[in-house]
Amino acid sequence: MTIAIFESDARHLDQVMTVMTTAFGDSYGEAWTRSQCAGILPMDGVTLMVADDGEDLLGFALYRIILTDAELLLLAVSPAAQGNGVGRKLLAQFIEDAKKKGTSKIHLEVRDGNPAIRIYEAAGFAPAGRRRNYYRGTDGCQYDALTFVFTE
Ligand SMILES: CC(C)(COP(=O)(O)OP(=O)(O)OC[C@H]1O[C@@H](n2cnc3c(N)ncnc32)[C@H](O)[C@@H]1OP(=O)(O)O)[C@@H](O)C(=O)NCCC(=O)NCCS
Repeated sequence: MTIAIFESDARHLDQVMTVMTTAFGDSYGEAWTRSQCAGILPMDGVTLMVADDGEDLLGFALYRIILTDAELLLLAVSPAAQGNGVGRKLLAQFIEDAKKKGTSKIHLEVRDGNPAIRIYEAAGFAPAGRRRNYYRGTDGCQYDALTFVFTE
């Protein structure tokens, strides 16, 4: 599979929302709504990085870089494309961009128990904190968020 990774914007919002809803589901309350995404995209320092195989949008990373701080807001890959290295590539691109822009702190937050933690740790992120009951699933259950900091 040949994958192109490039910066995009609201023109990919429909495809981003398709990946968002299929990748996250709604059990844990991790997915963002369309209006949350549309609202953040024009903000200073926000980047939408997408992965595309020439036919479909396979995945995306949404992040924000403000002065010396970079934060990964969302990372998702369409279920049909998972397990092919797309998530790792998007994460690597985010880290590279953050370093290029001179940040001193790269961080992210993820639901406790999300298997994505494995790619974050493999990329050099280490646990930094816990936010209790940060996520609320559709069934009303609450889940902690873990914060991670890049510590290459
Ligand atoms: C996390 C996610 C982006 C990874 O994308 P991907 O393209 O499948 O990832 P890659 O193929 O690059 O890497 C796979 C690695 O991710 C980890 N991983 C992530 N999710 C996993 C899952 N559901 N099951 C098993 N391993 C998973 C494994 O460590 C795996 O490594 P391995 O191949 O050595 O076993 C994708 O699973 C996803 O969209 N998940 C739902 C959304 C989400 O939870 N995003 C993260 C929080 S913002």
